[in-house]
Order: sequence, then structure tokens, then C-alpha cells
Amino acid sequence: MPPPLRFVLCGSVDDGKSTLLGRLLYDSSRVFSDEMKRVVEDSRRYGTQGDVADLALLVDGLQDEREQGMTIDVAYRAFETPRRRFIVADAPGHEQYTRNMVTGASTADLAVIMVDARKGILPQTARHTRIAAMFGVRHIVLAVNKMDLAGWSSHTFEAIASRHWLVTEDLGVPDVRAIPVSALTGENLTRAAANAPWYRGPTLLEHLETVETARPAAPQPLRMPVQYVNRPSPDFRGYCGRVACGAVKPGDRVLVSPAGTRAAVKSIVVWQGTRESAAQGDSVTLTLTPDVDVARGDVIVAADEPLEVADQFQARIVWMGDEPLSVGRPYRMKLHTREVGAAVTRIRHRVDVSRGAELAAPRLELNDLGVVNLATDSPVPFARYDQSRRLGGFILIDRATNATVGAGTISYPLMRAANLTWQDFDIDGDVRARLKRQRARCLWLTGLSASGKSTVANLLERRLVAEGRHTYLLDGDNVRHGLNRDLGFTEADRVENIRRVAEVARLMVDAGLIVIVSFISPFRSERDFARGLFEPGDFMEIFVDASVEACARRDPKGLYAKAMRGEIRNFTGVDSPYERPLRPDLRLDTEKLSPDECVELVMRSLPA
Ligand code: ADX
Repeated sequence: MPPPLRFVLCGSVDDGKSTLLGRLLYDSSRVFSDEMKRVVEDSRRYGTQGDVADLALLVDGLQDEREQGMTIDVAYRAFETPRRRFIVADAPGHEQYTRNMVTGASTADLAVIMVDARKGILPQTARHTRIAAMFGVRHIVLAVNKMDLAGWSSHTFEAIASRHWLVTEDLGVPDVRAIPVSALTGENLTRAAANAPWYRGPTLLEHLETVETARPAAPQPLRMPVQYVNRPSPDFRGYCGRVACGAVKPGDRVLVSPAGTRAAVKSIVVWQGTRESAAQGDSVTLTLTPDVDVARGDVIVAADEPLEVADQFQARIVWMGDEPLSVGRPYRMKLHTREVGAAVTRIRHRVDVSRGAELAAPRLELNDLGVVNLATDSPVPFARYDQSRRLGGFILIDRATNATVGAGTISYPLMRAANLTWQDFDIDGDVRARLKRQRARCLWLTGLSASGKSTVANLLERRLVAEGRHTYLLDGDNVRHGLNRDLGFTEADRVENIRRVAEVARLMVDAGLIVIVSFISPFRSERDFARGLFEPGDFMEIFVDASVEACARRDPKGLYAKAMRGEIRNFTGVDSPYERPLRPDLRLDTEKLSPDECVELVMRSLPA
């Protein structure tokens, strides 16, 4: 049996949510309810594997919150049709209930976001959509309800769907669709709407039954956060937890993160005895040899694939405290099974939920979404949220009230934990730039090989130098001859390639230079990382855009031809991805513009 589809249902009572849910449950063949939760809890205690433990994922969130003494109103219900099993998290939709929405979204594959056809997209709709995307939901369905009251007007439906599209277009959610429904009559929920011959898509239930949510299953290394150290007698010490990813068997060499202690797995203990292996989702107890020191909140990981450890992060956050988030205030942070002290050191921006704009903000208020820098008081083992929901998601707890005041997702670490301090010197970047009579900055050109980056970079530098500017040009091919000659073109190597060049660019900007970076830089997260190294306004992402076909036709180095013949592997645009910038500061369409015109555009968009 494939695992059930987990989805979260967002909307308010007025939108007709209960009716919709009731109908889905009623019309499908079997209905479980809270009963399910007990079953799941029992099976967790006994370390059952497979599907049932998968369900436990949902309950985990609940338990965490119960421990925080928080009332929560998320109801989980399980139901099934002959084609699929479902678990739905029912998140109340009033503005103050963002936290329920977060709890539901953080384990969901899909979100159904309800709107009233007569009201259209409300700020709350946009907020829920952004929260779903932020917490890793990759399938969003906008259920436009009460279409019967809107006369099944295709015009009304289209208008709402396209306004919603404006919200989702820059969120990177791969699957977004809208379905016109009437929860009251059941039309387009479980049977097609006779009143809407213009709608050709599936009913809501059909879509839920058939949507393909499996992600490409690259084998993952073992990660098991330790929930509890079990020491019933002096001669037994076991570490209990649920395997977050990967698999484990006796004899496997492991590392205890963050300490880095090495050991081997001696046995895998469950209630019924011992087991020969355990895998993702299983709740088990591991014993190690030698008997090294392990505490709750440590992560047991595959020895040859250590986990990242850091004490500073860039993170997305949704604020749910009645008191605003204040910079510098110490909170408690809970990340998987670990709890540490943490403070927000900087609010990078608040997100305007309706338009996605990044707004400067001194603080974040109830229900605000934002991007922040976080510092923890000790190094924590973690993964980026897009790699692992369990190892990259966290909550912030108010020390005084014990209330959960924020929930967030780690984007990337800002500085590796080490016994280093930052030295301040008297001459800083501003002084160095002023001496050169210019504003130092980084102009980051990204685009496919042969898109025209080097040509534009070359002309751009000539133009700047002609105007008396002090510049430096960092070019992918050239830097790979020296600093980065140890790196190839695997994903990991490209990430490192960009990290290094971003750091070098930062040093050069600090030296007062205008730095032009010309690298494919195919991944959004590393380009975002680069941006994060600079003051706002000192970094410009310039997308040098040409289609793969056009680049392959130009092919000045003959590399596309080789890649297509299979002589080069991992070639960007052929068998390695290029993630187009979602919101570049400038886009240069080199299929339409000449190199001179491109340079002209760059020069004109440089702020004074
Ligand atoms: S990046 O992806 O890590 O940013 P970078 O800009 O440094 O790439 O290097 C790209 C240059 O390396 C290309 O312009 C091309 O000349 C060369 N190259 C060689 N192999 C590859 C490959 N597999 N994919 C992309 N570029 C390659």
C-alpha cells in the first residue's frame, strides 16, 4: 500500500469548509476519526514500521504542541476511497489561527485552500498559500467554493484563479491549480458539475486521488534525532528516536552529531525484540559500541555523511506571538528533538503576503511572514528545510510564557560554528569605496553556458573602467583554473563553487570594488546565499536569459554538442538543471538584445 496522501484544508467556516470536508468524508467509503490517533500512538510506542508509523508523523506535531501547553484545534481525519488513503488536517481559518495552519502544512503533501467565489482572494488566502509553500507543500489546490451562488460563472472563476496565480507565481510551488466547486451540492467535489461545462479539469476528489506526490527518491544517508536516552539498568543504554531518513543495520558506522563522536551500531531494539534493520519512519532504539556519550537532541548519522552543524542561520519565519518578534530577545528554539537558546539577530525583511514584496521591518507582528538571521547559543546539527522537513523546521518558544511564538524553516547556515570571533578594524568597506569615489557592489550575472554572460561581463567592465571605476571580473571558467580547480560539476561541487565565489566577491566589495560575477550559478538557494552576504542594494542579480535551444545553437565551445552526445556529464541545460531566477533585479534577453543594449540596460539600472 502506498503511503496516504496528507493534505491540509485551509479556509474559514464561512467559506464552507466543514461542508466540504463532511462531504468528502461522507462520500468516501470509510471514515475513521480520533480513534485513529490512539491506534497510531500505540503503534509508535511499540515501534511499528511502515505506513502506520508514517501516520505518526502527524501526531508528532500535536505532541510537541501539547508539551508546550498550547491549545490546538487541528483535527486530523483519515478516510479512504478505493484508489487512495487520505489524512486531512483541518486547520481553522481565522487570522489568529495561523499556528494551526502551520502545524497542518508542515507534514502535508498538498494544501486545499478554500475561497468563497463571491469574495475572491482575501489576504488570508494569500497568507495561507505562502505558509503552505514555506512549509514545503508542493501541491496547492484553490477550491473556489459556492460556485452555485456565483451562477457557475466561468468569468468569476477565471478572475479568482488568475489573482491567485499572482500570489503563487514566485513561490516555486511546482503544482498549483484551481477547481470550481459547490460544497453544498457536491458538484465538482465527488461528481462533475453539470452546470460548468466550461470546466474540463478533474473533480476535487479525482485530483486528490490521482495527484502524483512522490519525489525522486535519491538514496539518503541515515539521520536519526535522539528523542530519549533509555537507561533502564546499568548495563543497557539505548537511544530512542524515529529515523528521519536513510536506513540502519547492526554494524553500520555512525557519527553522533554535533560532537562528531564515532561508533558502530550494536543492535536495533524494538518492543518485540531486536531487528536486523530500520528505515525512514521507524521508531526504534539503537545501542552503540563503544558506549559513547549521546544525549537527547543529538542526531545519529551515517559516518561518511556528516550532518551540517552551525550556530547562525538564515531562516523564513511565521510569527504567531501576540507580542511582536523583537530582535535580540532570547527565545528557546526547538529543532527536531533539540532545544537551544536562540535570538533573531536581524530581520532581513517582512513579506507582503498579497504581493510578495520584501518590506523593511523593525519587527514582526502576529501572523507576519519574514526572513531573518538567527543565532543559537550553541552549535546545532541541522539540514536545510528543502532537504529535510524534520531536520530543518523549528519553532521558537517564549521563555516567560512557554507559548510557541514562531515557526520557521532553515534556508542555510550563515557561518560555520567555530571558536572564532569577528575582529573590527578601523578602515572599513565604506572608507575604501569612498577613496575610489564609487559605490562598491556586486553585479551577479547568472545564466546558461553560452547565454552571453562573458560577453556582457566583458563589455560591462570596459564601460565601467572607461568611466573611471575600479572593478574586478570573476568568471566561472577562469576561477575554475585556480581557486576552484578542485571542483567539478556535480551538484555539491557547484554549490561549493558558488559559495566560494560569493565569499570572494564579498571580500572584493569590502575592498571597495565593483565586482562583476559571471557564473552559471544554476541554483536559487546559492544565489540567495550570495545575495544574503551583501547589504540590500549592494547586490544585483542579473539574469542573462537565452533558451537552451538558442545556447545550443551558439555553442561557442562545442560543449552542448558534446553533452548531447553524452561525452560530458551534468551539463547545465542538458542533464543538469538550471533554476531560473524568480525575481531577478534585471533580466537581459540576449535573444532579442545586442550585447551593447544589454550593457546599456545594466548601466541604466545601477542605482546612484
Ligand atoms: S557553475 O554551474 O558552477 O556556476 P561555472 O560558471 O563555474 O558553473 O562554470 C561553467 C563553465 O564551465 C561553462 O561555461 C563551461 O565552459 C564549463 N563546463 C564544463 N563542463 C560543464 C558542465 N558539465 N556544465 C556546465 N558547464 C561546464
